[in-house]
Amino acid sequence: MFMKKVSLTGIKPTGILHVGNYFGAIKPALELAKDYDARYFIADYHALNTMKDPGELAANIREVAAGWLAAGLDPERLIFYRQSSIPETFELSTLLMAFTAKGLMNRAHAYKAAVQENAEKGGDPDAGINMGLFTYPVLMAADILLFDADVVPVGKDQVQHIEMAQDIAQAVNFNYKQEVLKIPQAAVQETVAVVPGLDGRKMSKSYNNTIPLFAPEKQLRKLIMRIVTNSQAVEEPKDPGSSQLYLLYTLFASPGEQAALAARYRSGGMGWGEAKEELFRVVNRELAPLRERFQTIMAGPGALDAILEQGAEKARPIARATVRRLRKAAGIDL
Ligand code: ADP
Ligand code: TRP
Repeated sequence: MFMKKVSLTGIKPTGILHVGNYFGAIKPALELAKDYDARYFIADYHALNTMKDPGELAANIREVAAGWLAAGLDPERLIFYRQSSIPETFELSTLLMAFTAKGLMNRAHAYKAAVQENAEKGGDPDAGINMGLFTYPVLMAADILLFDADVVPVGKDQVQHIEMAQDIAQAVNFNYKQEVLKIPQAAVQETVAVVPGLDGRKMSKSYNNTIPLFAPEKQLRKLIMRIVTNSQAVEEPKDPGSSQLYLLYTLFASPGEQAALAARYRSGGMGWGEAKEELFRVVNRELAPLRERFQTIMAGPGALDAILEQGAEKARPIARATVRRLRKAAGIDL
């Protein structure tokens, strides 16, 4: 029987979803799921490293899971689950610790950045750094290796983590002289430009410049009206190529609409206010049905829990098989 390759990714529930996440992560991952056997999960234990407020974490887990479903994730076609529902993740993580060089963890970007920040402040280099942050790449390697992932769709910032998962898996396979764990590859989406935020910088929750994916219509219009533009007057011709507003428009508009608006930019006579109205129209056209689905899912939380639990039930046997394979290779299962 022809077996499809496995695509796997983790979604950290650390904040409400925004338009940057939608084009940079959600859409490409759902596109990939058409050709792969996809396994996508909410990385709630990863979020715990930075989120200590239980109410906030619980709300984020729900909203992010509902967000992916509203954006088109079909839980019948792919396995969608919570990391915390798969205890084998944590068993594999412990097994992998024994094969992970401490020096490898010292080189992880996120950890290094935290140490560097402390050094700049002149205090204790380990201030505010928990073991969850230090061993973050091991838990992530466990997430990936547990499910025999071939490809892992991620943003550029996560590529180092995938390389570490490769290193750790290779150390295991080398030691036991067999392919106990499959070596995964990162799949970085290069075609989608960095989605600009309201202030022109990369849209990011850390910059507080986002367009939330499920913002009510009124708030959506307000935010779009707030996008920073230059001071060119209405009658001046404008260059669509250097306009963040136009770049956002291209993400939502058809090729015909894009060409028509670009022509209006160039000919002059269209002010930024009008360009923003045009942007709002296409953004709302695409997001309105998502927003409605999101609200329906959030209104009946029982259904969401059931979907995630069904996903976990499909995921657990795969996870169990991997852990059993490694325990056997290691001499722990006699
Ligand atoms: P944030 O920057 O808001 O904290 P995350 O780091 O949680 O976002 O990103 C989650 C996913 O969304 C990653 O795959 C990331 O590459 C993608 N992403 C986030 N912001 C953007 C953006 N402005 N443009 C394109 N992709 C983005
Ligand atoms: N570290 C990823 C992030 O910050 C989330 C994540 C956790 C993940 N486990 C994963 C991504 C496994 C891909 C595969 O976005």
